[in-house]
Amino acid sequence: MKKNIVALILSPRESGNCEILTKEICRHIPEEHELTLVRLTGKDIKPCKGCYACLVSGSCPLSDDFLEVAEAMAKSDALIIASPTYFIGANGVLKVFLDRCLQLFSAKFSVRGKPVINLVTAGIKGEAGYSEMMLNSFSLILGLKLRASEIFYGALPGEVFYENNEQLQRAADLGAKLFSTEERAFAGWACPLCGSDVIQLLGGNKIQCVVCRNYGEVVNDGKNLTLKVTLNSDNIFFTEEQAGRHGLWLQEMKSRFMQLRRKLAKITGPYADDGKWL
Ligand SMILES: Cc1cc2nc3c(=O)[nH]c(=O)nc-3n(C[C@H](O)[C@H](O)[C@H](O)COP(=O)(O)O)c2cc1C
Repeated sequence: MKKNIVALILSPRESGNCEILTKEICRHIPEEHELTLVRLTGKDIKPCKGCYACLVSGSCPLSDDFLEVAEAMAKSDALIIASPTYFIGANGVLKVFLDRCLQLFSAKFSVRGKPVINLVTAGIKGEAGYSEMMLNSFSLILGLKLRASEIFYGALPGEVFYENNEQLQRAADLGAKLFSTEERAFAGWACPLCGSDVIQLLGGNKIQCVVCRNYGEVVNDGKNLTLKVTLNSDNIFFTEEQAGRHGLWLQEMKSRFMQLRRKLAKITGPYADDGKWL
């Protein structure tokens, strides 16, 4: 049966690098498929209000295009997420969309386990900053199965393939990875649990992986620095079981709030009239 691929394009530029990279990859996917593109920057995705109503009632009070996109993702067989680098991070609409995914904790559908390829474009080599980390973190939080994550360089629309056979070939090679059952190979220096190469230094040789938030240490074998990371049982998203547990904790927030609200109001009340709002 035809596979259904949904691509989230985080670039507002029509026929820009994110878009053509995604299409090039799909030209090389061996499985029969249909590609549905979603220009997320053109959708009406309102910022989460932090009201937690979705966890209690099962639905979000905001009315916009979020559900249309989330349901398309849930019905898909696989995803591609492509974002340009904007000031060393991914397009902010990705984060706005992710925050709204809080409602997926109580939704009747899920995107968990879907294979995903993450793509970042950047105009200048070495200036993609934390963009790739943002996409990989997005995927991990939603429980997607990251098949590959790559950065492509080019500033002008189309420039990623301008006199650049290496990038064209790299895109073509990604096509075979989306539905591959082969385990993803991590770089030798990356987090052995999630493959991220972004870590937070905690002092001494202690580290925390910024993407999967498991703890570990830097090991120096005299030749190379590598990471030893162990599963943190208090993690809130890394495994399906942990995400489920976190969902229950979130749902208990309502009764906690009802219990504490008078005491909390005594703390917040005295600040109510300070300053003026623009
Ligand atoms: C607001 C803005 C900020 C940008 N910031 C960066 C940056 O920090 N680093 C970088 O390498 N490129 C940066 N770029 C360049 C884009 O990442 C680059 O042009 C990319 O190819 C755009 O992909 P697209 O064609 O899919 O939109 C920026 C572009 C814009 C519009």
